[in-house]
Amino acid sequence: MATDDDKRLAAEAAVAEARDGMLVGLGTGTTAAHAIAALARRVADGLRVEAVATSAATATAARAAGIVVRDFAEIAALDLTIDGADEIDPRLYAIKGAGGAMLREKTVAAASRRMVVIADGSKRVAAIGAARLPVEVLPFARASVVAALERLGAAVTVRVGYMTDNGNVVADCRFPAMPDPRALAAEIAAIPGALGHGLFLDEVDAAYIAADGVVTRLERDGPSD
Ligand code: A5P
Repeated sequence: MATDDDKRLAAEAAVAEARDGMLVGLGTGTTAAHAIAALARRVADGLRVEAVATSAATATAARAAGIVVRDFAEIAALDLTIDGADEIDPRLYAIKGAGGAMLREKTVAAASRRMVVIADGSKRVAAIGAARLPVEVLPFARASVVAALERLGAAVTVRVGYMTDNGNVVADCRFPAMPDPRALAAEIAAIPGALGHGLFLDEVDAAYIAADGVVTRLERDGPSD
């Protein structure tokens, strides 16, 4: 089965969790696009939900699909957020941000009662760390943040000609190994001018991962199937 079909199956499984009255966070990326489409189909069938978008692109796509999108600045809490990932492991640790939206994605995920990752099987790993780890950087502090990331052991590439929805730059970090993601997350968070990063260690409550047409659900607490 094609990867895109697996992305769609994972997205549809997650969207099945949406219920009337929910405020739903919509992620960013190719897998999240399937969730937007699946949610729009359910809305067209009568589901009553509103959404918050993790990027301008997602807001545009969701509105075009007929979903009401609210301003997150006015929202203190959401019911359910559905988003993709670049890597996800059995601890439900994820690396996100290949699309550069990780700061808004984490902010929305942290405000959500439940955050669900959707992914095709290529994203499932034994332990996160091989994917590039994006860091959103205040442009004023670009060089000092890059130097600090290099001192942490990263090979750093600043995305050329790219600006986040927040007007910042992104530094992609490759670490030779990531034995302690929690310690690394704390070290990056402590760098002045590093505004956010793609390590999601506490936000993910569950994951729907589809491989060859079979969807597997992983739960942080409770049974999986
Ligand atoms: C966006 O910034 C990312 O966090 C995406 O959610 C992640 O990169 C997964 O994207 P795809 O579903 O396109 O692989």
